[in-house]
Order: sequence, then C-alpha cells, then structure tokens
Amino acid sequence: MFESARDRLCVGLDVPSLARAEEVLAAFGTGPGWLKVGSELFGAAGPAAVRAAAARARVFLDLKLHDIPNTVARAVAAASGHGVAMLTVHTAGGSQMLRAALDAAAEAAARSGGPRPLLVGVTVLTSMGEADLKEVGVVGGVGSQVARLVDLAQEVGLDGVVASAGEAAAIRARVGPDFRIVTPGIRPADWSGAGDDQTRVATAQAAAAAGADLVVVARPVLQAPDPAAAIDGLVAEIEAGLGARPA
Ligand code: C5P
Repeated sequence: MFESARDRLCVGLDVPSLARAEEVLAAFGTGPGWLKVGSELFGAAGPAAVRAAAARARVFLDLKLHDIPNTVARAVAAASGHGVAMLTVHTAGGSQMLRAALDAAAEAAARSGGPRPLLVGVTVLTSMGEADLKEVGVVGGVGSQVARLVDLAQEVGLDGVVASAGEAAAIRARVGPDFRIVTPGIRPADWSGAGDDQTRVATAQAAAAAGADLVVVARPVLQAPDPAAAIDGLVAEIEAGLGARPA
C-alpha cells in the first residue's frame, strides 16, 4: 500500500462539488496513489465522491470522527461500505471510542468480505501550535500531547496516526516500523501562499525522510498552474526523502 513514492502521496480533494472534483482529477495526469475525500466534498456529494476517487486511486476518507462511541461506530460502519481504504478518527475521543471504531470497521469488513479500512488517529491538528493547545486546556506542549495520543492509538490497536512531519521522526522511534504515520501540513520550500492556516509545516521530502508513510497535500496541488507537474514534483521529493532515510 505504501511501496512506491507515488503510493506514499495523497492529494486532498478539498473542492466544493463532484463536478469540480472530476475537473481537478482530469488535470492530475498519472496522479497520486491516494486521494483524500474530506468533509467538504463528502458533505456536498457523499458516497458518489468516494466512488469517483476510488476509480483512480486508493481512498482516504478524512471525516476526523469524534463523537460518542456508539455514533462513531455507526459512522465507521456506514463509511466502510464505500470501498474506503483509510479512515480518520480523533485520537482524543479516547480508548472506548477508538475501540468501538475498530470493532465496527472489522465487523463491516467481515460482512462485506472486503479488507478492513485502515483506521488512523488524528493527534494534534497541523494547524495548531502551542498557543492553540493552551487555549483548549492542553498545557504540556505539542510534542508531549502528540506522544500521549500516539501511545493511546498504538495501545488500542489503531493502524497509525496523523501528525506533522516535525513529529514524524520522534513518532517513528516510538512506534517501530509497522505503525503508519500520515503527515499533512506539507508545503513546497518556495510556497508563496503564505499565511494559510497550517502552522506545523514541512516539505514532502522532509516528511518522507523523517519516516512518514503517507504525505498528504491539498492546496499546493489544487492551486498549482499545472497540477500534474506539481504531483510529479512531490513524488520526486518523496523519492529523495526515502533515499535520505537512515539505513
Ligand atoms: O491544503 P492543505 O495541503 O493544507 O490540506 C491539508 C489537508 O489535510 C486538508 O484536507 C486537511 O483537512 C487535512 N488534514 C490536516 N491536518 C490533520 C489532518 C488532516 O491538515 N491533522
């Protein structure tokens, strides 16, 4: 699932309609190994958006579920039915919620006879810095909050976590080789869209070098004059990052 550099790139279809998603996909060339459907597109087009994406790549359905265990379990069961390969839940929802999500995904897969989607836990959103965490009552800083949530995710049996590239090396050292690390907050070194909402950012090359399994990018591809070239550039960066990993 994460063999080649292209299989380690996920492009977020952060667009308002299925028609716009189809337009964007037509400009992707060979495209990435993964496509991400988030709340915006899923809210606009629902399962049809997942099907459109699944026709071209593996689908990461990024709804970042965070609710009572029963509701999350039912949402995971519903989402698992559409051929989704990866789903997000908020690790901060706690062990009961995470276990309910895992059970629901396994039951849905057993019913359909298909593989269980990977369940990855969002740790601290890449848009949040120390001050934002403090505002919601987390006083120990980003690193220790990410570490706490990574431990929880691994303890309950999630397949991996979502974190920034800046935390990827520390997470990899903590979790071993098989636990998945998904890193959004990716910006080209010469990114001119300064002042967007991402705070903890890194290049795709740095993320891959630090141990990320899947690098998630949206605006730098969607806003590029040539999205296919932007995707190919990111794949080359990931390749270079993999080559720079310590043996
Ligand atoms: O446009 P940009 O590259 O910042 O998009 C990043 C994508 O990754 C968005 O779709 C966002 O929802 C998602 N994401 C994130 N931070 C997380 C989890 C997902 O930015 N912790």
